[in-house]
Amino acid sequence: MNAIEFRSMKGGERRIVVTTCYDHWSAKVLNTADVDALLVGDSVAMVMHGHDSTIPATVDMMALHTGAVSRGAPDKFVIADMPFLSVRRGIGPALDAVEALLRAGAEAVKIEGVAGHEDIVRHIVESGVPVMGHLGMTPQSVHQFGGYRVQGRRTDAATRLVEDAQTLEACGCFALVLECVPSALATRVTAQLQIPTIGIGAGADVDGQVLVLHDLAGFSPDFQPRFARAFRSGAHLLHEAVTAFANAVRSGEFPTDDETYS
Ligand code: KIV
Repeated sequence: MNAIEFRSMKGGERRIVVTTCYDHWSAKVLNTADVDALLVGDSVAMVMHGHDSTIPATVDMMALHTGAVSRGAPDKFVIADMPFLSVRRGIGPALDAVEALLRAGAEAVKIEGVAGHEDIVRHIVESGVPVMGHLGMTPQSVHQFGGYRVQGRRTDAATRLVEDAQTLEACGCFALVLECVPSALATRVTAQLQIPTIGIGAGADVDGQVLVLHDLAGFSPDFQPRFARAFRSGAHLLHEAVTAFANAVRSGEFPTDDETYS
């Protein structure tokens, strides 16, 4: 999969599936899973580093995780998030960030919002780097939104989001993430764009879905937003494995002779 193939899945039979991925061993597992792309999201700051927002993610942090993922999943299309403010300081610093992420192994970048940085999105695309847009509840703007709230409920906000989506398409984005927006609005945007929409908390009438890996695998038992389904209980499995190890050590059952060098 690459950005061109990803884009061509718009409106097709097969829905697009994306998950986040932040580290080498899960990338190795996902390299053979039936997903269309791996997103090294800036949610890495929350999921892997314990911060309470994505704002602490830096270009260095994103590049470190992008490298680990791309080495683990050589067969997957890897998209990396441009972190907080990295597209707001002008074209030079934005290109430095893009360069760091692509040299680390990303094949595309994702950028939140568009107002005020349309020229930068266009310039990155014209520089040969596929860009995925991201509208709706863009977590880097959490303080402006006053929390993680559904966006685009009011008519003016919905109209602005549709216009922003059209702007991103005109700037050359190959796909658009819609996060936490009413499903009717996501349906409207999806119908108006030629590029695929990937929803997270945006209902079913989009071209694909993205979820945070740790939410879908049940590794975030204390955090399950309404839109995230835990398809398995990863935390439970991990807990059981470590408990079994501890019990085997304490009972003297581990290691056996077969697990010991003579
Ligand atoms: O950082 C992230 O994980 C994301 C998605 C979930 C869309 O941007």
